[in-house]
Amino acid sequence: MLKSYLSENKAFIEEKINLFLSELSYPSEISEGMKYSVLNGGKRIRPILLFMILDLLGKEKEIGIPSAVGIEMIHSYSLVHDDLPALDNDDYRRGKLTTHKKFGEAEGILIGDALLTHAFNILSEKNMGLISPEKIVEIIRIVSSYSGINGMIGGQMIDIKSEGKKINLETLKYIHENKTGKLLKLPIEIACIIVDAPAKIRKELEEYGDLLGMAFQIKDDILDIEGDFESLGKPIGSDTELDKSTYPSLIGLEESKKLLLEIIEKSKAKILDNFDKKSGENLINLADYIANRNK
Ligand code: IPE
Ligand code: IPE
Ligand code: MG
Ligand code: MG
Ligand code: MG
Repeated sequence: MLKSYLSENKAFIEEKINLFLSELSYPSEISEGMKYSVLNGGKRIRPILLFMILDLLGKEKEIGIPSAVGIEMIHSYSLVHDDLPALDNDDYRRGKLTTHKKFGEAEGILIGDALLTHAFNILSEKNMGLISPEKIVEIIRIVSSYSGINGMIGGQMIDIKSEGKKINLETLKYIHENKTGKLLKLPIEIACIIVDAPAKIRKELEEYGDLLGMAFQIKDDILDIEGDFESLGKPIGSDTELDKSTYPSLIGLEESKKLLLEIIEKSKAKILDNFDKKSGENLINLADYIANRNK
């Protein structure tokens, strides 16, 4: 059930990304690099989450297309820059050479920049006429906030600063909440803006997003130890090599697995407490998928 939802929506969003990116041409180093970096086997969890919440709140996914594409472009840019030699220095991503390995380092930096900035062009231009100007501004406000110092970039900075150090749990939590959690919570918040969700529902869904984000990164850290390159499409042992501060490095692998399951159960309870089982089914199954994923 979830499997077919995931594959259908993955194909759907990839078609839209392709459509929007096909409008770009010169300079080809940038447009080709953008396509290479975005259209390459990502799971598309963030766009899919946006569609799931729209569905839950009774709206067609079409109204979320520009926002979904925008978020996936920003997420992909975060991966392009995360892999750069100055950051995690990784050679493979989504089963292919990383962007800087394929196109060069300066190009990799610029391709990442172009993905980030063009995302805002899509969020404004392609949302025009689809949703109200007030909502577009609100979406842009939250996307810029969660992608920057108060979100992904803040988390990435502390992640880098915490290499080779023994940090406390509070700092680790900050890293996860920001480098990963914020971009996963973003589609949920955008869907709530689009449908004018009541404050109470939005709060509950945000809490589900917080839990999901935390679980997602703990699983990512576990897979960096126990995963395999073939299915993951990115190198194993990258965190150990850089002596990253992760849940496994701080509390141990077994404790991390226990914590992951606890968080997943909490996230499912959030949905079950607020929606009937049938309408919350996808979100509940998505939580299980995140705990059990091997890619
Ligand atoms: C990887 O994200 C980076 C993290 C935030 C852990 P994903 O696991 O969603 O990567 P793709 O998009 O599927 O490649
Ligand atoms: C990255 O965390 C989170 C981002 C903001 C890109 P990781 O560095 O653990 O992600 P992977 O393992 O390289 O995908
Ligand atoms: Mg990293
Ligand atoms: Mg990395
Ligand atoms: Mg990782």
